[in-house]
Amino acid sequence: MAADLGVVGLGVMGRNLALNFADHGYHVAGLDREPAAARILAERSAACRAPAIAAPDRAGLVAVLARPRVVLLLIPAGAAVDEELALLAPLLEPGDIVVDGGNSHYQDTIRRAAGIRAHGQHFAGLGISGGERGARNGPSLMGGGDAPAYARIGPMLTDIAARAAGRPCFAHVGPDGAGHFVKTLHNGIEYALMQLIAETAHVAHHLLGYAQGSVRAAFEEWARGWMDSFLMEVSIDALAARDPESGRPLLELIVDKASQKGTGQWSAAAALEYGCPAPTIAEAVHARCLSALRPDRLRAEAALGHPRRAYAGAREEALAFLGQGLLAGSIAAYAQGFAVIHAASEAHGWNIDLALLARIWQGGCIIRSRLLEPMAEALTAGPAENPALAPAIVPILRPAEEGLRQTVALGALHGVPLPAHGSALAYLDGLRTGRLWANMIEAQRDHFGAHGFARLDRPGKFHHDWTARP
Ligand code: 6PG
Repeated sequence: MAADLGVVGLGVMGRNLALNFADHGYHVAGLDREPAAARILAERSAACRAPAIAAPDRAGLVAVLARPRVVLLLIPAGAAVDEELALLAPLLEPGDIVVDGGNSHYQDTIRRAAGIRAHGQHFAGLGISGGERGARNGPSLMGGGDAPAYARIGPMLTDIAARAAGRPCFAHVGPDGAGHFVKTLHNGIEYALMQLIAETAHVAHHLLGYAQGSVRAAFEEWARGWMDSFLMEVSIDALAARDPESGRPLLELIVDKASQKGTGQWSAAAALEYGCPAPTIAEAVHARCLSALRPDRLRAEAALGHPRRAYAGAREEALAFLGQGLLAGSIAAYAQGFAVIHAASEAHGWNIDLALLARIWQGGCIIRSRLLEPMAEALTAGPAENPALAPAIVPILRPAEEGLRQTVALGALHGVPLPAHGSALAYLDGLRTGRLWANMIEAQRDHFGAHGFARLDRPGKFHHDWTARP
């Protein structure tokens, strides 16, 4: 019997997605550089509705696939994708579809789609979120590429996707690079939310002096409200974990150096490229870079000492502010991510439906949260307005704002760096300030560069002789 799709790359994501397809009755042919990986897939799929088969090589894979063929790549982003395409594409026929399910850069996806299109085949850049468990049980899927490809693969992706409120967490979000761009910004938001949570736990434990069990209890309480999210669940587990040997809280033993693979940095770069402020996403990337400078930090701490003062105020009140600050900061993080996607969608003519993204992110993915429900409502009203300022969000944001302000002040006064919170506050305050400081920037630019400036009191462009004092 012909196979419904081929999966190339049977690491954690590839194997679990293949099993998910098999569970839904799709016959999968698996291929990996490591032949054992395809054999393991075949064995593990024995209990699925449609057992998978191990393909011996690319030609063998292509030979067993039903036409038009669908080949899903789950291989590391970057050169490996180009190398795989160079070997695979000549074996395919016009109308066949290659799906890249990795975290590829969207510009690479645009280039690859054009290259493959020239040979009559289709290329779909598919953003997949949810990690190992999502891949196995239902991920969130952000599809980019041409419509004919999705007419073929859409129903399969709908079947394996997570479901939220009865709807599948899959959408064809736009052409060529749109799916991978959306996934990149999903990860940018993920970085910002993770940093906000990390800063919150750090202040509660290290500045306010709460034991990790009490921080966990506070997190659990917040997660019963608007902060109900997958990343809070993950963080609650982290706060609960103990080192099996020493019995100490495991977090205390983990080196404070955050790793990264690039999608956060791409998100921040995209924000700059499209001129769309996303300071909390960018600060989350900078914060990981700063954390990686551990030897420098340790040297500087020894040389300069630390300005941190002991907290002398009311702890319970400060903890409540932290909870509010986390909520307000999280709203800012989502708003920034949606705004960057909107800016890129306008620039590329992708026509991405932001409300639809807020819906397909409600299940399966890493940034799924209760907040995405009012976000979807806010974005349904139209993307022109920043969702943080939309009527569906303002009643949630307004009571939390003071907590964000107090949290930032607490960090500043006690020498605790809170870059995600600080940038979120500046973002929200900047958005709602009718008259900003940029008049001075314009004067400076005109002074040294004769760049001209606009005036509030009349139309046109003006230049001034700034050194001629009245
Ligand atoms: C997801 C995750 C996934 C991966 C990140 C981690 O949506 O399933 O975002 O893609 O865990 O790429 O990224 P960093 O290693 O850069 O933190």
